[in-house]
Amino acid sequence: MEKRVLVTGASGFLASRVADCLRTNPDYSVLTPGHKEMDITNPDMCRAWFEKNRPDAVIHLAAVSDISACEKDPDLSWKVNAQGPANLALCAKEFQTEGRFLFASSDQVYSGYRGSDRLHRESDAPSPGNLYAREKLEAEERACAILPSALALRLDWMFDLKPGKQNYLKGMILSVKEQRPCRYAVNELRAMTYAWEVAENMQKLLFSDVPGGAYNFGGPPSGSSYETALAVYDLLAQVMDAPVHGLAVPFEREDPRSLAMDQEKLHSAGIFFRDTAASAAYCLEREKDRIPSVLKDH
Ligand SMILES: NC(=O)c1ccc[n+]([C@@H]2O[C@H](COP(=O)([O-])OP(=O)(O)OC[C@H]3O[C@@H](n4cnc5c(N)ncnc54)[C@H](OP(=O)(O)O)[C@@H]3O)[C@@H](O)[C@H]2O)c1
Repeated sequence: MEKRVLVTGASGFLASRVADCLRTNPDYSVLTPGHKEMDITNPDMCRAWFEKNRPDAVIHLAAVSDISACEKDPDLSWKVNAQGPANLALCAKEFQTEGRFLFASSDQVYSGYRGSDRLHRESDAPSPGNLYAREKLEAEERACAILPSALALRLDWMFDLKPGKQNYLKGMILSVKEQRPCRYAVNELRAMTYAWEVAENMQKLLFSDVPGGAYNFGGPPSGSSYETALAVYDLLAQVMDAPVHGLAVPFEREDPRSLAMDQEKLHSAGIFFRDTAASAAYCLEREKDRIPSVLKDH
């Protein structure tokens, strides 16, 4: 029998990719109620939807995902980002959802840390540096208290080449095309991950028996942000058959920082991510035909 997987936020960036990825697997039937059908800030609406549809597992990705949008409307973002996951965890608990309850947290929970010398571990004291990050931490605490088997996945900045918002890799493709140099910090550690890779790895957790709690859910950087950029530009030189020398310009941040995450706990759960440059290579291998539309859409 197909397992029924609820994916919230399916009109959004990540959930649309996750739903597409799940649909490639005949074992799953994917349920994607929109905002109007199930507003995650409305507990009665969530409960009614669960009662009617009884999903076997949940991937909760609906959110106010823009950090500045959270600062502009803190009441709304608190309801969506901090309370929303708890509303859904309550439903998964009440209706005894057999599979896992996965939800998106963020590497921003480490954003208040000053220094570029560390890969953050889940056991480190969190250091949220903005409202969005505080909401993500609150959501982790609330949802995991309601449903201890819940999995809070701390995602880093994701990319792919599908039409839509700008991202790390699209920005670098444009810089190669325009031969426009970009600055990358030598005293910053930050990883970026291909969204499809995230979706594939989420699938592995859906009916797994890994312990509940928070997991860093992305790969390591390929060195400092400057070194990572050099590695990605090298890839683009080959794929786009264009010169990249001098496009990555090193600079020193006044406030060294690290958003980079340690992978040990994730590895113990049997999940492995590529580092940023290898993740970009994976994206280019699957999606290089989209490069012309990345250049055209700009
Ligand atoms: N994108 C990244 O690189 C990144 C990095 C780290 C963490 N994350 C986290 O990953 C998750 C997905 O991010 P994303 O970039 O894919 O977000 P996104 O593109 O902004 O999509 C957010 C989705 O949430 C829906 N939504 C908002 N409020 C809702 C509500 N009250 N009820 C039901 N649905 C609602 C939106 O639907 P409407 O548009 O119809 O409102 C939209 O489909 C978020 O938790 C985000 O914080 C993302």
